[in-house]
Amino acid sequence: MKRLEGRVAIVVGAGSSGPGWGNGKAVAVAYAREGATIVCVDCNEGAARETAEIIRAEGGTALAHIADVTKAEAVKAIVDACLSAFGKIDILHNNVGITRGGGPVELDEADWDLVCNVNLKSFFLTSKYVLPVFSRQRRGVIINVSSVASIRTPKDISLAAYSVTKAGVNALTQAVAQQYAAQGIRCNAILPGLIETPMISSMSEAYSEGDYARMIEIRNASCPTGKMGTAWDVANAALFLASDESSYINGHLLVVDGGLVNVV
Ligand SMILES: NC(=O)c1ccc[n+]([C@@H]2O[C@H](COP(=O)([O-])OP(=O)(O)OC[C@H]3O[C@@H](n4cnc5c(N)ncnc54)[C@H](O)[C@@H]3O)[C@@H](O)[C@H]2O)c1
Repeated sequence: MKRLEGRVAIVVGAGSSGPGWGNGKAVAVAYAREGATIVCVDCNEGAARETAEIIRAEGGTALAHIADVTKAEAVKAIVDACLSAFGKIDILHNNVGITRGGGPVELDEADWDLVCNVNLKSFFLTSKYVLPVFSRQRRGVIINVSSVASIRTPKDISLAAYSVTKAGVNALTQAVAQQYAAQGIRCNAILPGLIETPMISSMSEAYSEGDYARMIEIRNASCPTGKMGTAWDVANAALFLASDESSYINGHLLVVDGGLVNVV
């Protein structure tokens, strides 16, 4: 028996922002390998289709759904599409997230608003429209992708807006967990540390004046293991939180960082 046999998962941000394995893409494939049917949601049509294709090529079931999850109408449409195709929702995995470097002085107002909308408002909206379905079903699991930047200030880079939104994700996770626990609904967060995914290429300007190789060196050297984690480290943690193996774990902020936050 696979760990998610018969489950239906909406993975939001299921594509990846470049070639290789992003966290959302790995999670979608990992859930499918354990028997779940996946609605692969992304605003990038090619990225959503690529992940759905990978799943189908492995014999799984997946639907690509294109949506900008900062918009309420688009989020309602995801829920409707999932219910009409598969009749239920068991797992909501919120993965979208972007970074913009800088503190309050360097960040312009438009970037502040963008990071808040993509990283936090989207999690509010997906929760808002999926939770009533979970309530009717008397079951459901939410996994929110936060970051260790929500609990520790990064050493080599200033990411004020990002850290603030991820701290908001933690608070939203625990508020939902508390409110819905008695209905058999769980909500947990994953706090990845430094992970080598396509997304980090957008950060090399802030880390090392655009020198990608130098940024990789800096990030690897910061990790107690000497190496960044991979998208599969995040996916394996998500699999545990999505499955019944974690049925008494709720409101938890699970750090996946190779020991990074313990280092002084
Ligand atoms: N890589 C790291 O070191 C690291 C560390 C901590 C946390 N994280 C978190 O992991 C998550 C992302 O990881 P990833 O590797 O999958 O990133 P990614 O950029 O490869 O994938 C995210 C996907 O989300 C999509 N997306 C962005 N905005 C969207 C929107 N408004 N509507 C719909 N889709 C949208 C993008 O098109 C992209 O395909 C983020 O929440 C990020 O903060 C990453």
